[in-house]
Amino acid sequence: MRNVNQKILIVEDEAPMCELLMTFFSEKGYKVDAVQNGEEAIRQLEERDCALVITDIKLPGLSGLELLARIQLDWPDVAVIIMTAFSSISSAVEAMKLGAEDYIGKPFQLDELAITVEKALERRSLRREVKELRAEVRERYNFSNLVGRSKPMQQLFEVIKRIAARRDASALIIGSTGTGKELVARAIHYNSDRKNAPFVPINCSAIPETLLESELFGHQRGAFTGAHETRRGLIEEAQGGTVFLDEINTLSQNLQVKLLRVLQERIVRKVGGRENIPIDVRFVSASNRDLEDAVKRGEFRQDLFYRLNVVPVRLSDLKDRREDIPLLVHHFLRKFADQHNEPVRRFAGEAMRILMTHTWPGNVRELENAVEHALTMGSGETLTVEDLPTSVTASERDIVDEALLDNATLAEVERRYILRVLEKMEGHQMRTAHALGIDRRTLYRRLRQYGQGSDKNNEDGRSKGDVLKKGGVQVKASSL
Ligand SMILES: Nc1ncnc2c1ncn2[C@@H]1O[C@H](COP(=O)(O)OP(=O)(O)OP(=O)(O)O)[C@@H](O)[C@H]1O
Ligand SMILES: [Mg+2]
Repeated sequence: MRNVNQKILIVEDEAPMCELLMTFFSEKGYKVDAVQNGEEAIRQLEERDCALVITDIKLPGLSGLELLARIQLDWPDVAVIIMTAFSSISSAVEAMKLGAEDYIGKPFQLDELAITVEKALERRSLRREVKELRAEVRERYNFSNLVGRSKPMQQLFEVIKRIAARRDASALIIGSTGTGKELVARAIHYNSDRKNAPFVPINCSAIPETLLESELFGHQRGAFTGAHETRRGLIEEAQGGTVFLDEINTLSQNLQVKLLRVLQERIVRKVGGRENIPIDVRFVSASNRDLEDAVKRGEFRQDLFYRLNVVPVRLSDLKDRREDIPLLVHHFLRKFADQHNEPVRRFAGEAMRILMTHTWPGNVRELENAVEHALTMGSGETLTVEDLPTSVTASERDIVDEALLDNATLAEVERRYILRVLEKMEGHQMRTAHALGIDRRTLYRRLRQYGQGSDKNNEDGRSKGDVLKKGGVQVKASSL
């Protein structure tokens, strides 16, 4: 009986009954307290931890049911057992609906009540274990707003922690669009001892070159037309913190040279200025292209590349870590539900299957948008295939990506394409052949090769799909 150490609170207005229960449960080893009404029970619960409440349904003042409702609200972890006279069994039903763990009819045998209590405590501790386990899982698969259980994501969390711990180490994040590069940069910053200083993101491709230079380094008054006053650059603004150079691959040769100097000497000089300003910032940069290739092609300076790439971080495409998809979907469902103060909705099985198999060229951002789209379109508690964006459901679009994914041969791609078009044409072979720009015979031959073409119906250009039921009578599609 592993639950005997727990605390039980008895709420009973009849003194002899109260005494009897106290003695009985104390002898069994429980810690027992007893009070005579609901108001006192609440005071007790406010003061100390309690695992279980046994309460009479009929009490002076606050009734047993009202007490139960209050416990459900404020102490949902506390199990409640209701004692009720057999004559008022309907109130026991009511109590169960309100969330009582169990009930017992008066008069009862003490041993019977002991079993009821033991079972209730057992169920309660199971529930708590499950809850703790869930919290632990959430913790393990969540890191600074990044969600992922796949091996690459788990490794990423470790790499981020290691980078964060090295105050000055530059990091270069490479990943396709929407894989979470900015999120990773923020995670590095907010897990480092620079977290109380600014995190300054700069998108190198969004700002024209001349402007970017003064944005980064600042400018002296009169340095160029329009420079009416001296301004600090973003690197200086980030003093003590982290500069995030996004799309670093688009940086011009000229600025590459200037940035290299900043990294080497840890000083900035304003445009048109003479003063060397010492800086204490970490540089995290990101690119959606392989920078090494750009170095090989002579587009990106090798020396700057080495400076930026002290610790490389590579983010994999979502299609290469599909086991993260259910977790991400749930994460976004929750996020949007919280934003709108709504209960969390879920995806129907088929919709989830599509989410799992889509190739996600826009990666996590595309997935996030798809979830938001579904939440906006869907009306019910369960989101269906119809609620997903057509870009996700129109699988034809992904045939090439899919083929690349499993190194399909040309013949295999042809097979898949022909079958997809056939599906789109609802099995109508004439239309399929026409759409494919091949003659019917060629199509039949192919379909037979694929084990799809020996049906009688096919000979006159229709397959089974064309035979529709109408008013209980089978009608051929062509005659409709
Ligand atoms: N592992 C993840 N867990 C939770 N949310 C994620 C994850 N990865 C990306 N996201 C979310 O996806 C969106 C895109 O992420 P982010 O902006 O960091 O991508 P990016 O790689 O910088 O994209 P781009 O190259 O297009 O700038 C954001 O809303 C981000 O919160
Ligand atoms: Mg980005």
